[in-house]
Amino acid sequence: MKKHNNKFETNAIRTQLKRSENLEHSVPLYLTSSFVFEDAEDMRASFAEEKERNIYSRYSNPNSSEFIEKVCQMEGAESGFAFASGMAAVFSTLAALLDSGDHVLSARSIFGSTHSLFTNFFPKWNIDHTYFKIDELEEIEQLITPKTKILYAETPTNPGVDVLDLEELGKIAKKNNLILVIDNCFASPYLQQPIKFGADLVIHSGTKLMDGQGRVLAGITVGSAALMDKVYRFSRITGPALSPFNAWVLSKSLETLAIRVDRHCENALKLAEYLEAHDNINWVKYPFLKSHPKYEIAKKQMKAGGCVVAFEVKGGLNAGRAFFDAIKLLSLSANLGDSRTIVTHPASTTHSKLSVEERADVGISDGTVRISVGLEHIDDIVADIAQALGN
Ligand SMILES: Cc1ncc(COP(=O)(O)O)c(C=O)c1O
Repeated sequence: MKKHNNKFETNAIRTQLKRSENLEHSVPLYLTSSFVFEDAEDMRASFAEEKERNIYSRYSNPNSSEFIEKVCQMEGAESGFAFASGMAAVFSTLAALLDSGDHVLSARSIFGSTHSLFTNFFPKWNIDHTYFKIDELEEIEQLITPKTKILYAETPTNPGVDVLDLEELGKIAKKNNLILVIDNCFASPYLQQPIKFGADLVIHSGTKLMDGQGRVLAGITVGSAALMDKVYRFSRITGPALSPFNAWVLSKSLETLAIRVDRHCENALKLAEYLEAHDNINWVKYPFLKSHPKYEIAKKQMKAGGCVVAFEVKGGLNAGRAFFDAIKLLSLSANLGDSRTIVTHPASTTHSKLSVEERADVGISDGTVRISVGLEHIDDIVADIAQALGN
């Protein structure tokens, strides 16, 4: 792969597989399950890992390698592995690193499926977890046990767009010899690079801003070569690999990540400011609003606030339902980071498996609305929200 020492946007476009003899401009699609060997010795040496080459697409594929290389450059990582979904990345990364008897210390505000993994599935393998509240970082160290191996968090969080101090988490992890794993999909590598602040591994759901057009499911983990080697060895056996086609789509999408995310953030901030001034809204949360409790931390670690705005409509559940039913242009859906603005009700969708108490713990009320602000003209986005709010 040709390496570039250019700026983020240039690397996103110019990091590409070596051209074939056809001298194609766009990268070809390697839709193949396996690769052929020259002879018996080539086959033996390849399987013995004496050569770095593609053997089987469950292990590696040129399209996945290009996608991984781009994300490594963006995140400042040494190595990575691409997965069929964000949850495949979360599960495989943690399962590769944890042994029976280990303990995970995680922020309480995490994606619902990650919470289910910790509470419903990891106990089957004798892997325990404790949650810390994101406002009580100074108390994390009291929760570390001799069995704690991983410190886990997302920032900004889903759906509450709370912000955790990555520098602080990095220091705690280093001091206590923990592996810091950060789910960075709300920010994307363009807005925030957790490795700079001490993260060992960074996970993304590529389904979100990376694809950015709601077409494919994908996940990726990048980080230190030593840890990624463990993730790779687990994953090449268990088989959660990304398909070459989706890797190709994602690699093309990353070419426009910076320009798309800039516009997402510009639109999201405008919408957040509009909502903050609206009489029918109880509260609005967006990392780059001055009223956000972690505004200073967000400014320190993020280039801009991201695409997600959370707010609560006055009038509880009924008012919330009326708001959703009145939406005309925007999509009622559960994804985020799409070019289309998506309006979600976390209590009845992404976080519906949580109890009411668990939802309250992560700041989700019955009336909480999550908007993933898209790339339509901001005047049209605001107009649809305004008419749904009744003016
Ligand atoms: C923060 C976060 N992590 C992980 C995931 C899982 O990603 P996927 O849906 O691609 O499996 C999501 C999905 O919404 C998410 O929001």
